[in-house]
Amino acid sequence: MTVKKALIPAAGLGTRFLPATKSMPKEMLPIIDTPVIHYVVEEAIASGIEDIIIVTGRGKRAIEDYFDDSPELEMHLAKRHNTELLKLVRDVSSLVDIHYIRQKEPHGLGDAVLRGENHIGDEPFAVLLGDDIIVNDKPCTAQLIEHFEKYGMSTLAVEEIPYEKLSSYGIIKGKPLNESLFTLEDIVEKPAPENAPSNLGAIGRYVFTPEIFDCIKEAGTGVGNEIQLTDGIRLLNNTQTIYACKFKGKRFDTGDRLGYVKSIVDFALENETLREDVLEYLKEILEADENPKQGKTDMIIESLVDKNTTQEYEKLGEE
Ligand code: UTP
Repeated sequence: MTVKKALIPAAGLGTRFLPATKSMPKEMLPIIDTPVIHYVVEEAIASGIEDIIIVTGRGKRAIEDYFDDSPELEMHLAKRHNTELLKLVRDVSSLVDIHYIRQKEPHGLGDAVLRGENHIGDEPFAVLLGDDIIVNDKPCTAQLIEHFEKYGMSTLAVEEIPYEKLSSYGIIKGKPLNESLFTLEDIVEKPAPENAPSNLGAIGRYVFTPEIFDCIKEAGTGVGNEIQLTDGIRLLNNTQTIYACKFKGKRFDTGDRLGYVKSIVDFALENETLREDVLEYLKEILEADENPKQGKTDMIIESLVDKNTTQEYEKLGEE
């Protein structure tokens, strides 16, 4: 059996991005010109998903508007014969069939997943967190689906997490089957680093069998007084073998401020119209940093003066 449905939780408050997230969803923060959630939806589609449900909350209307038609904008672009932008705008709204459901209060990731129960029904489904971008030729979700098709059991994507960040993740205890695949023995939500069962953390990609819904309900409220997906996974592990897969790809946690900055730098360097200028700018910053007495502005002025003076001399020579 394969996986055709995906759920994208995007109802969190995004407090790490306040004040911006007072009036905009963090999933809509742009990586240069494209919102984070666009990449998440693209990953789902590239993994063979045909039906997406996004869990939203109050203040998240911008997500629905983004994936909807924009008649006024399209008319404006059509009138100006801006066919390139017109195509870009139309492509977004015709990506895939997206359904929305509200999580009334952000009671935790487990609760957000539970909101999708009726829509998902009795089918396996993927979960992609709305603020994690993973870049790889073969999308991370496709890698999980491939495992699921082989073993027919729920599968989580895991990654090695630095020691000081262990307390921000669900950390697994796994029995290795090979270099990148483990069977799950336990998973602990946000452990103190010294108590973490390993350095492998569940990141924002999962494939579940529908039994996860009952397990989340049975687990109830957990750490931080929230309904934790991790607790549901723990219960599910009592009745089925869950797999943890070290995925291939580079992950950007854009819900974290440093992760967000890194994603912008990486995407800019991958963009051929920006790469050279951004590299030059980064070099300037690094050079200024290595010469702390000389501020960055001083260095730029100095290099301009040098250039002008040389040009002046060249002109004199020509005369
Ligand atoms: P996070 O814990 O990173 O999101 O959840 P957050 O709570 O919005 O972030 P901070 O810590 O306040 O800055 C990961 C994903 O799960 C969704 C979030 O929208 C995000 O995409 N989520 C989280 C929900 O949909 N509902 C929740 O109750 C919690």
